[in-house]
Parts: sequence; C-alpha cells; structure tokens
Amino acid sequence: MQGTLIKHLGKHVGEEVTVQGWLYNKRSSGKIQFLILRDGTGMVQGVLVKKEAPEIFDLAKELTQESAIRLKGIVREEPRSMGGYELTVTGLEIINLAQEYPISHKEHGVDFLMDRRHLWIRTPRQNAILRVRSEIEQAARDFFHQNDFTLVDSPIITPAACEGTTTLFELDYHGEKAFLSQSGQLYNEASAMAVGRMYCFGPTFRAEKSKTRRHLMEFWMIEAEAAFFDFEDNMKLQEEMVYFIVQRVLERCRQDLELLGRDISKLAAIKLPFPRLSYTEAVELLRSKGEAFEWGEDFGAPHETIISECFDSPVFIHRYPTEIKAFYMKPDPEDPRVVLGADLIAPEGYGEMIGGGQRIDDLKLLEERLAEHKLPKEAFEWYLDLRRYGSVSHSGFGLGLERTVSWICKLDHVRETIPYPRMLYRVYP
Ligand code: 4AD
Ligand code: MG
Repeated sequence: MQGTLIKHLGKHVGEEVTVQGWLYNKRSSGKIQFLILRDGTGMVQGVLVKKEAPEIFDLAKELTQESAIRLKGIVREEPRSMGGYELTVTGLEIINLAQEYPISHKEHGVDFLMDRRHLWIRTPRQNAILRVRSEIEQAARDFFHQNDFTLVDSPIITPAACEGTTTLFELDYHGEKAFLSQSGQLYNEASAMAVGRMYCFGPTFRAEKSKTRRHLMEFWMIEAEAAFFDFEDNMKLQEEMVYFIVQRVLERCRQDLELLGRDISKLAAIKLPFPRLSYTEAVELLRSKGEAFEWGEDFGAPHETIISECFDSPVFIHRYPTEIKAFYMKPDPEDPRVVLGADLIAPEGYGEMIGGGQRIDDLKLLEERLAEHKLPKEAFEWYLDLRRYGSVSHSGFGLGLERTVSWICKLDHVRETIPYPRMLYRVYP
C-alpha cells in the first residue's frame, strides 16, 4: 500500500492517515511514548498515551531503532514538533523488527560509517545530501531541455582515451583491449555534429592514484557540446547553467541546506556574469599573494583555493598553457602558447568544478596533436572523420556532479556526495 508521505502531512490536518517507514528514535516518559518515524521525505513524531491505547502502547515498547513500521494516526498541527506536525497514534503495525542497529545516535568514525555506507545513507544529513544531489541533476536536465539541447547518451565502454592514458581503467573486451570512459566528450563532439546542441549525463571513470577530498574513481559528469559555439559562448552557457542550478537548489532545498548547516547567504551572493581571469592573470594574482609560481605549471588545490577566495562567485580561468591541457584543445589564434580552454573554479576553496573549451576543428592539426600525445591514430579514426565531413567550430564542457554537490552543500569530502563512493582502496559496499 502507498500510505501518506510525511512531507504531505500538512494537507491532512485533522484526518486519520497511514504513514510507513522506519523508527528513527523513540522517547518515553512512562505514560507517554514518542515514536519518531522517518520515511525519506521527512520525519514525524507519533504520540502514544498509555491509558488511551494500552495495547498499542505495549507493542511500541518492543520497537528497536530502524524497525519498519506502519503507523495510523490523526494529523495535528504542532509548531514545536519536527516538521510542524504530529500524529496522535491510533494504530501500529510492525513490519520488521530490526536487530540491534550498528549506527547509533552518537558520533562514529568515518571508516566505520564508510563500511556501512548502505545504512549510513539513512541518516538525516546523508538524506539531505541525496535530495540536493537529485535536485541538482534535475535542474541540469531542465536547463538543457529548456535551451534546445538534445540528450544523447555516450558509451561507457570505449576503445580510446579522452583524458590522457595515465588514469585509464582497462578491461578485457572479449580478447580486445577496452577502457571505461573518462569522459563522453569525443562522442559528444560527434553527436553535436548530428543534433547541433547536445548534452549527456553519465558515470565516468578515472584510475586516479590520488587520495584527496576531491577525487573519486567513479564520478558523474554533466557534459554539453554545441556546434558553432565559440569559446565565449561556451563560458556563457556554463555560467548560466551553474546559476540556474544554484537558484533551483535555493528555491527547493532550503530545509536540506539548513539541516546541513550551509551558510545560504554565500550561495545567494553568486552573480552573473562570473569573473574571468586568464591563466597569466591568475599566475600574477598568485604571485601578488606571495606564492612562488612559474608560468607553465598547473595549479594545485591550494592555488585554486587562493584564487577562489578572491571572488564571491565561481571564477573562470582561461587560456592555459598548451602543454598542460588535453590534445583536443584549440590553440588561441592570438597566442598559440595557450589554448581556448577554461576551468570553472568553485567558490570557498572547492576547486575545479568544470573543465571545457573550444575544440580543434582542423584535421591536420588534430593529427599532429594525436601524434605528439602518442595516442594511437587507429582508435581515433572515427573521431578524425568529424574533421573530414563538415567540420565546424564547436565547444563543450563537463561539470563534475560530486564537486558541485560538495560545494553547494559545503561538505568536507566528496565521499558524502555520492551514494556509494568508489575511492582509492575502497569498493565496498
Ligand atoms: O576537467 P576534466 O577532466 O574534463 C573532461 O573530462 C572534459 N573531457 C569534459 C568535456 O569537456 N566534455 O573533468 C571535468 C570535471 C572536472 O572539472 C571535475 O569537476 C570533475 O570532472 N572530475 C572529477 N570529479 C571527481 N573525481 C575525479 N577523479 C574527477 N576528475 C574530474
Ligand atoms: Mg580538468
């Protein structure tokens, strides 16, 4: 049966409803018991008075944390109660009496919780993060749908590397070598030549040897690619998407953000357009803050943090040195030492959230770059076809979902942003 969702109790004041879920906690004062029920949409307190319903009262005494139950009760408005409503319990059915639950209401260490991630996600904080993640995903889809982008899914098993050969997960594909996708981009470029403006959204994989608070082995990327978009159009699209996502979360997930203790004013402060710094300007900024930094080096996490702290909104860093960027990036016609690529750096020290840019559309140059990067031309023949048959200028980007969730929720570590994190030395549960 479906029952009433806790988030909808407000529509049923004075009525008898059935809610079902799991016992989060209970309290008793001898003559009154309070059962706190969670159903994933909220929590509600059921009130049981011994002398009014002695049988139900005794049954409730047996309840253990996380037992599955069905409660019948009259909805009452109660501003002092969690969620603003209370149930005067008229019926209780135990669906499953839980064994002693390993996660109690006291503090636990991270390893303990990570080993029990399948249970940890039931707690209010993790629940809130999952809801914000879901809203971000939905917002991104709505944004692209409203802007005439077609969803074209990219494959997960691929014959070639997109983001360098050092982070590939290799697999045996019936005797042939294949890899888990690092990014849908190469396929997105083909799809953009088919439908004009496209996006894809799927899991991507990097065999990163780094154990940081920003890296996962498996993460989700929202990627877009558009024919005839130049470098500037691409940045405009990105900032509009990120702004749209933040406004949507502020509008629909305020309670979750509050539960997480997020300083909402920081999110409300972001403004369009986002600031733009060239790589060279960013290097000067770092030096002015006392950092010894050579032109040509890549930014590390501490550098990105220093830069982000100079702005209230996410900030673009564009025109990176060619050497430190991927093979497909188009050189800047005005300065071929740099490429028309940009990273979007999240505020508050959350680091790179988006990588993207304009792609090489010239066949000869692309062939040269493949050779320079020692990538096998055979595996890229289909990709080179895109430059043989109606090549046009085009641009795109990929937004890391978990980094975005991390920033919007202001979490310490990316491991809490994804239901089942895959990290260095962790694939369980
Ligand atoms: O900057 P990256 O490597 O860009 C690409 O893959 C492009 N081909 C995307 C495109 O243009 N279509 O990755 C994009 C984003 C990063 O900015 C970051 O947010 C996230 O993906 N990301 C990771 N997130 C978690 N764990 C990792 N190991 C990540 N690696 C990248
Ligand atoms: Mg990048």
